[in-house]
Amino acid sequence: EFTHFTLEEQEGIAIFTISRPEALNALNQAAWTDLLNFAEYLEKAEHLQVGIITGAGDKSFIAGADINTLTGMVPMDAVNPPCTDLGQALILLESCSKPVIAAINGYALGGGLEVALACDFRIVSENAALGLPEVGLGLIPGAGGTQRLSRLAGIGIAKDMILAGRTLSAQEAVTHNLAMKVVPREDLLAEAVKLAKSLAKKGPLALRLGKQAINRSLDVDLKTALYIENLTFGMLLSTDDKREGTRAFIEKRKPAFKGK
Ligand code: HXC
Repeated sequence: EFTHFTLEEQEGIAIFTISRPEALNALNQAAWTDLLNFAEYLEKAEHLQVGIITGAGDKSFIAGADINTLTGMVPMDAVNPPCTDLGQALILLESCSKPVIAAINGYALGGGLEVALACDFRIVSENAALGLPEVGLGLIPGAGGTQRLSRLAGIGIAKDMILAGRTLSAQEAVTHNLAMKVVPREDLLAEAVKLAKSLAKKGPLALRLGKQAINRSLDVDLKTALYIENLTFGMLLSTDDKREGTRAFIEKRKPAFKGK
């Protein structure tokens, strides 16, 4: 089904792993399309609750777009598939009704960091290196990096990374708000799965609307954003999940959410 990624599913969690060892998991055109297909699948698959994206091996998460692909590209390629598949995939992951975790096992450069920035959570292994080195290629990030990085971490560090080409270590990524935590490589996937399992226990509708309330607030003024929160909060008041969650608390038991 996928050219360069493998998909593994366990208990409602989809683990999507890129493997292109010959290029440090750089994303060629087929991999851009793989990501788009995964984003569409994750949204639609009713049995899935959380997505995890990671890379095979101990050296690299994704070392960017494949530079061999970039060399042949002309201006109109930027607005046509397959080039737009990557940007579209990241828009879909960002707006996905289910949370997505990036488990960053090494280099997350260029388009690789852009994939991670479109996820809701980022966990990094000790050897991770996060950067947007496009400026060294005479380019800028082309899949959301100039926008998502500054919104997540602030324009100061975004300019340091995008204009000065600074690469962050795993610990610096945490310091600058690009990642939640650093763990040893061998614990990385287990940490991501642990987080995914804890998310899967929460009310799916609350996850979905909470994610939307946060993401959509970035595009509007505060009063409108607070109104969006108020409306989504109000919607949740009508759900079976809210009845179950509040009742379970009062009855001192674990809730069993149904996503209704
Ligand atoms: C193609 C790549 C690659 C890439 C690594 N390789 N990154 N091939 N595209 N992005 C290949 C190398 O050519 C090499 O192949 C093999 O992987 C191992 O890499 P080395 O360079 O030998 O490893 P090392 O010396 O350890 O250096 C690792 C590295 C370096 C620092 C990550 O590979 C590097 O700088 N890579 C490029 C990173 C980058 O600029 N990414 C941004 C791309 S632009 P051979 O055949 O020689 O063994 C981008 C724009 C997105 O992402 C736009 C979206 C629309």
